[in-house]
Amino acid sequence: MSWYQGARIAVTGAAGGIGRATCTRLADLGAEVYALDLTESPVGRPVLCDVTDERSVATAMDTVVTAGGRIDGLVTAAGVVEDDVPAERMSVAEFDRVLGVNLKGTFLSCTAAARQMLDAGGGRIVTVSSMSGTHIVNYPQKQSVYNASKAAVSALTRSLAVEWGPRGVRINAIAPGYVATPLNDLKQHMHAAWKEGTVAGRFADPGEIAAAIAWLLGDDAAYCMGTELLMDGGFALR
Ligand SMILES: NC(=O)c1ccc[n+]([C@@H]2O[C@H](COP(=O)([O-])OP(=O)(O)OC[C@H]3O[C@@H](n4cnc5c(N)ncnc54)[C@H](O)[C@@H]3O)[C@@H](O)[C@H]2O)c1
Repeated sequence: MSWYQGARIAVTGAAGGIGRATCTRLADLGAEVYALDLTESPVGRPVLCDVTDERSVATAMDTVVTAGGRIDGLVTAAGVVEDDVPAERMSVAEFDRVLGVNLKGTFLSCTAAARQMLDAGGGRIVTVSSMSGTHIVNYPQKQSVYNASKAAVSALTRSLAVEWGPRGVRINAIAPGYVATPLNDLKQHMHAAWKEGTVAGRFADPGEIAAAIAWLLGDDAAYCMGTELLMDGGFALR
């Protein structure tokens, strides 16, 4: 029997493009998927959760454990991008919003799940970073704070891999390039330039990212510890 069969896996940002595709992929592999988001996801068992709120995240993880007896996996796909404003004009409230969801939300989700996993003797986590954490994409859209938040998610993932790996909780990151999801819908005017920047000449389909996330969770990736899988259609090569 594969690890996925009957595994209890929580996915944050589960109502969004990558999160939803991940829920579908994991459910197809036989997992029991808990779909955490501010709104109900049509895929998986919906659990309303605000990842910026410590109590909300703790309650959501308790819900997963209560329903399934344990939590075997976590994918942190909740994320937001800032308004397209120059950094010198960005409000502190906007800075806090982006860091709040992308970094604090990832930290709260990982730690709440890991407390349960470490007690139970093991678990697997995939965080969703971005190519923007390493390869600065700040033109034509401006997203300095998003880029910084993703660099922080990557560093957090590597740090947690060292802390938790020896105790059975394996954590890795995926770093997607441009993916066809609602996150990018408002920036239609930039799509042609973005596609041209890749070797692939197109956006990723969310299902392609979901397949890689599922692989990182699975037994075949057992030797990946704090790895970041860049999946950018060759953007970084240009
Ligand atoms: N789409 C891309 O091109 C791309 C590229 C690289 C990385 N990413 C990352 O992938 C992740 C998923 O992005 P997506 O493209 O699916 O975006 P999306 O906008 O389709 O989905 C994001 C989801 O996060 C949820 N969310 C936002 N704030 C939340 C909160 N406080 N609590 C709980 N849920 C919250 C939203 O409700 C939404 O369903 C994000 O972290 C994003 O930064 C996306």
